[in-house]
Amino acid sequence: MKKKVLAAFVCMAMAATLVVGCGGSGGSGDGGSSDGGGSDSGSDLITVGFSQVGAESDWRTANSESMKETFTEENGYKLIFDDAQQKQDNQITAIRNFINQEVDYILLAPVTETGWDTVLQEAKNAKIPVIIIDRMVDVSDDSLYTTWIGTDALCEGRKAAEWLNAYATAKGWDASELNIVDIQGTIGSTAQIGRTQGLEEGVEKYGWNLLAQQCGEFTQAKGQEVMESLLKQHDNINVVYCENDNEAFGAIDAIEAAGKKVGTDIKNGEILVISFDTTRQGLTDTLDGKIVCDVECNPLHGPRAQELIEKLEAGEDVEKLNYVDEEIFTHDDTVASVTAVNSMDEEQEYAVTPITQEIIDGRAY
Ligand code: AHR
Repeated sequence: MKKKVLAAFVCMAMAATLVVGCGGSGGSGDGGSSDGGGSDSGSDLITVGFSQVGAESDWRTANSESMKETFTEENGYKLIFDDAQQKQDNQITAIRNFINQEVDYILLAPVTETGWDTVLQEAKNAKIPVIIIDRMVDVSDDSLYTTWIGTDALCEGRKAAEWLNAYATAKGWDASELNIVDIQGTIGSTAQIGRTQGLEEGVEKYGWNLLAQQCGEFTQAKGQEVMESLLKQHDNINVVYCENDNEAFGAIDAIEAAGKKVGTDIKNGEILVISFDTTRQGLTDTLDGKIVCDVECNPLHGPRAQELIEKLEAGEDVEKLNYVDEEIFTHDDTVASVTAVNSMDEEQEYAVTPITQEIIDGRAY
């Protein structure tokens, strides 16, 4: 069905299912700082405005590519892409531009969870459905967005903590011997909040020493800078919990530049690196033993967001929260599985997969 024929039907269906708003046809505007601004007036394309956090990590680049590869004219879309350079103010400006341009859908990958009520109310008033991508928003009224697709950051953190406990137990390490530093992601982002909480719960439960927590902004440069500083402050670090792969790359560089080794022989001064994302480079470092455990956070949300839009266009119900399944990859087979509680309070057993070159070769990002 063509978009304009669908419009009234979608409005009725969405009202019936309490899904927010209904987009108009592609509007006009200069697109502001966005790529590909402008109008699709007169065409059948669905206009999607996507406010992306930035380009802070390999994960983020893969996420942007997934969205750009999905929302193409060949697939029936006009994408207006805006890179907010890690600034919430830029995202708010982008959303207002999308509203002025009368896009059909707003896609938002929010930098932090809070601070969205006003602008999302403006989108709701304009009857434009909002799909939240990756990180979550913390809003007073959840009708301010239509649906969310992303990963379970809290469960990721719990998986990493349970893996560390199982690994330490298998190696015969006493909990009190583990001296951990946490290089946190962007403070206030869902990925940081969940992964930090997962670690802190492990510290509380198992009695590890948490020496320091410092923000590495999910970037390689900051991860390196923070690790250099932590190594100067603490001479007994034996575990570094990096809240994404790029921070891990920076931390590994800092450890090696300080004349230390990454690995699992913590009794002889090696530092065990845990990370998140499972990018191709992250998994290559896992195969090499530089990262010992890498917990997946999958960035390929383009097709998932497209599926949600197609359902909305067809007047179908969509789930409010759409979690993506994620794996755990490790350097060795010491731990076969871990049990963790996810954000829906369900306890589950998750397989732990020793990484192979074959898995890396098949990795899309
Ligand atoms: O929100 C997902 C996180 O953001 C990824 O772990 C990180 O690499 C990205 O920058």
